[in-house]
Amino acid sequence: MSTDTLNETEKDALIAAARDAQASAYAPYSNFAVGAAVLLSDGSIHQGCNIENASFGLTICAERVAIFRAVAAGRMDIAAVAVVTSAPKLCKPCGACRQVIAEFSRADSPIIIISTTASGLSATETITDLLPDNFTLL
Ligand code: THU
Repeated sequence: MSTDTLNETEKDALIAAARDAQASAYAPYSNFAVGAAVLLSDGSIHQGCNIENASFGLTICAERVAIFRAVAAGRMDIAAVAVVTSAPKLCKPCGACRQVIAEFSRADSPIIIISTTASGLSATETITDLLPDNFTLL
């Protein structure tokens, strides 16, 4: 599979996976459900949802759950990311998730952001745009 460009079939499958994952969100405190999915260079898709906790600081975002599931499965070459919310505006990944995306993706991997509201808002970004000059050690 080419990871340089995302074809429409891959894009549709990734967005569907993120939408599906949103339904699993555990967000009783914010009532803000987020779904995410990452497409790896081997074609596999890994899903994540936000998982909150009564001790609020323990909450983890959907993007990081998806990425950590992929890494735990032995895969870490992210070709694309999709993030879905039902907010009336586009909600782009938080700073912590941007740093984690930067660790495991390419500079030009598409990050697709979707709002499921009637207006059907969407945007495609890259990590270079979202987190320029990110922290690195390697
Ligand atoms: N959240 C995400 O899942 N991803 C982000 O990039 C930012 C925020 C979640 C965390 C929390 O459960 C809820 O959205 C409200 O902040």
